[in-house]
Amino acid sequence: MCGIVGYCGNKNAGEIILNGLKKMEYRGYDSAGMSLVGQDKLKTIKSIGKLENLKKIYKENPIKGSVGIGHTRWATHGEVSLANAHPHLNTSETIALVHNGIIENYQDLKKELENLDYSFKSKTDTEVIVQLIDYYYNGNLLNAVLKSVKRLKGSYALGVISMNNPSELIAVRYKSPLIVGLSDDGYFISSELSSLVEYTNKVIYMENNEIAQFSLNNEYKFFNYNLDEIQKEITNIDLDSQSISKNGFDHYMLKEIFEQPDAIRNTLEKRIVENKIKLGDSFFTKEEIEKFNKIYIIACGTAFHAGEVAKFAIQKFTGRQVICDIASEFNYNQKFIDENTLTIFVSQSGETADTLLALENAKKLGAKILAIVNSENSTMTREADKVIYCYCGPEISVASTKAYTSQLLQLYLIALDMADKLGTMSKEEITDILEELMLIPGKIEFILSNKDDFRDIAEDIKNESSVYYTGRGIDFISAKEGALKLKEISYIHTEAMASGELKHGSIALMEKNTKIIAVVTQNFTVDKIASNLEELKSRGADIYTITTFNNSTVNQNSKQIIKIPETIDILAPFLSIIPSQFIAYYTSLAKGNDVDKPRNLAKSVTVE
Ligand code: G6P
Repeated sequence: MCGIVGYCGNKNAGEIILNGLKKMEYRGYDSAGMSLVGQDKLKTIKSIGKLENLKKIYKENPIKGSVGIGHTRWATHGEVSLANAHPHLNTSETIALVHNGIIENYQDLKKELENLDYSFKSKTDTEVIVQLIDYYYNGNLLNAVLKSVKRLKGSYALGVISMNNPSELIAVRYKSPLIVGLSDDGYFISSELSSLVEYTNKVIYMENNEIAQFSLNNEYKFFNYNLDEIQKEITNIDLDSQSISKNGFDHYMLKEIFEQPDAIRNTLEKRIVENKIKLGDSFFTKEEIEKFNKIYIIACGTAFHAGEVAKFAIQKFTGRQVICDIASEFNYNQKFIDENTLTIFVSQSGETADTLLALENAKKLGAKILAIVNSENSTMTREADKVIYCYCGPEISVASTKAYTSQLLQLYLIALDMADKLGTMSKEEITDILEELMLIPGKIEFILSNKDDFRDIAEDIKNESSVYYTGRGIDFISAKEGALKLKEISYIHTEAMASGELKHGSIALMEKNTKIIAVVTQNFTVDKIASNLEELKSRGADIYTITTFNNSTVNQNSKQIIKIPETIDILAPFLSIIPSQFIAYYTSLAKGNDVDKPRNLAKSVTVE
């Protein structure tokens, strides 16, 4: 959801900024732009659409400067247009600013500035910030930025440069991520690590209400909002640029689908020692768990589906009820939370605004906070009481795949650990499940080896206006995640329906050749869903069934059986999602869509 970068150093900032934006383009790709200061001039270029367009403009007319900022946009305020693209400039075009976040009081500030004769070229919330800085500016850029941000409500990570302070870059953060990179060649700022790792492994994570000043004479300083200088810890990161390359695959999504077996193995190796789960300090003690009166799982998108699947596992293993809530709903509904409630937040990025707000709300009510996060050092990891990392490596494709199965795994291990500590399962029962979990990577590899089978299904559905997923119980959740994958990258309307609920309305939609994808993996519902499929088939539907069974009724009613390896029922979601990931991938490809960067979406949604 928008990415910002900045550079201040002895190299030409243009290339560095374009490079950095490329790594973050998946965060937003409606438009892009950059501003550089050099030879006492401030120059800005912008373009609509993908970053390639900005690169072209830069190549034809290279602008030079050692200090610069750049932005890749996912539109929130104002349509996709050059005027709304960042960087935004003050009226005299001496100050440039890039912003990630949302300014909630921008209308009030705009009115105030208009009364002072300021005019605005864009419909963005961001432009008010640069005009405010202009208003407060008296030669000291740091002070002007600080005075301005104190007036803002909402969230922001900002990079600011000025023609009149040509050797300075100012960065400030409140509720939107911002990371600083330090190298002998200069200083970098970025919304995320991916655009820094090529240049340095020394980074500083900015916290809320911190402002930083970088200068060309090899100096940087961090301040709080009282302008007291603060010392920041330098972190050495071991992320390499290889892990964020496509590694020979055509798309990040395909690469990430294929990374799932290793991601699962990595976690199992880390967390299971001699057949025992070792979560250590990352999770709560027996005494703490015994006190929990309620368990909430809160997340968005795919992470929410991981939570919904895990609800089945936690309830089955511990006998404790779990409430799952979408973060944006949780935030504005009545909450039944107190200091004895365990709230589990699941997020790949650890930066999703809705989930962060939910965490803040749960914290205020005294709940214990556990975060399941992939991005190390993200905001969520700092806000939570306990953090369990997914360790599946950076996920770049907007459609989440490996983060989903990794989130599932972490949640299942938590469920088993809780069952062990509460005594709701015997050691043998836990060992049986762990042993079966160890087999999951190999079984996923089997499905991966048949990837080409899914191309035909993609061909069958690519011209449909609607596709339906169906399943019962835990299969219904896998159906929901499958439907999300398909709709987000193929743009085909896809809906998941609980099989037993079809007859209460949705079956009216069935016509000859309506395409249905069914998920059938659970022993105690297979006969029920077999009848549901019969009802669909008799209305003319073409059914593609992802199943662990060789069930004659299911077979007879399916146009195609997608056989996946058998496992114990509760672990089936690890396998049944893989065909859906491929179906979505190949359908998107067949339709000529941009698989990794689907329209209107962004990887990390840092606005509410
Ligand atoms: C966006 C992404 C989804 C993701 C969701 C939650 O909508 O497009 O793929 O599942 O955000 O993101 P998180 O980083 O919190 O897991």
